[in-house]
Amino acid sequence: MRLVILDTQKSVGEWAAKYVMKRIKDFQPGPDKFFRLGLPTGKTPLEMYKNLIEYQRQGKVSFKYVKTFNMDEYVDLPRDHMQSYHNFMYQNFFQHIDIDPKNVHILDGNASDLNAECERFEAEIVKAGGIELFIGGIGADGHIAFNEPGSSLVSRTRVKTLAEETLRGNASSFFDNDMSKVPKRALTVGCGTILDANEVMILITGAQKSFALYKTIEEGINHMWTASCLQQHKNVLLICDDDATLELRVKTVKYFKGLMSVHSKLIDETD
Ligand code: PGA
Repeated sequence: MRLVILDTQKSVGEWAAKYVMKRIKDFQPGPDKFFRLGLPTGKTPLEMYKNLIEYQRQGKVSFKYVKTFNMDEYVDLPRDHMQSYHNFMYQNFFQHIDIDPKNVHILDGNASDLNAECERFEAEIVKAGGIELFIGGIGADGHIAFNEPGSSLVSRTRVKTLAEETLRGNASSFFDNDMSKVPKRALTVGCGTILDANEVMILITGAQKSFALYKTIEEGINHMWTASCLQQHKNVLLICDDDATLELRVKTVKYFKGLMSVHSKLIDETD
C-alpha cells in the first residue's frame, strides 16, 4: 500500500489528476487497447475531475480510448435528476472531455430488473478486459462505493439499502439536508468487484474521514469497515490530506511522509 499525504484537499485533487493522466499516457491506449477506468461520484473527486478537464483542454491527455465504469447509482431516481450519478458525471466530467459516450458505463437504477442490470454491468467489465485503475472515496463509516458496514468483502455488483450515516452525509452534501429526499437504495459494485481491478486509488480528505482512514489501514480487515478490504489488494494507492490523518499514529504519518520523494516519482512526467 502507498499512502500519499498532502497539505490540502486541493492538492489531493491535483495529485490524483496527475497520477490518472500519467497512468493513461503510460498505458498508451489505442483503438484495440482501451484504458479501463473505474470512477466515483461525491464531493471528494471534484477537484480531480476539474484538473483532468483542464489537462485534456491543454492537450496533455485524451479520453478517446478510455472506457469508464462508475461505482454506483441510486435506485429510482430519474436519470436526468440533478443528483443522479448519471447527471453528476456528465455535469462534472464527461461533457467537458473527449470521451465517446458509448464508452461510458453507469448502472441503470431505473432498470425493470435490477439484479439483471447488476449482472450485465459485471459482464461489461469483464468484456472490456477488467478495470485497470479503480478510483474511489470512503465514507465516514468506512464504506467503499455503497458497500455499507457489514457488507460482504467478496461481494459483487448488487442492490444495497443505504445506511443512516450515508443518507445523512448525502443529504447534507447534495439533497438540501433533507434525508427524505435521498434515495434509500442504490446499485453498487461490490468489494470483490473493486478488488479485481489491477490498481485501486482512494481519495480521502477532511477530519470527518480520519477515523475511517485509521480503520481502513491501521486495524485489521473487518466487514464493518469495508474499505479495510483494500489491505488484501496487491496495488493500492491512498491519497489524503493532512486533516484526514488526524486519527493515524504519529509513527505511521511520519513513515509515509518520509516516502514522499519516492511517491513524487509516481507523477513525474519526465520519464
Ligand atoms: P464524498 O463521498 O466524497 O461525498 O465524501 C465519499 C463516499 O461516501 O464514498
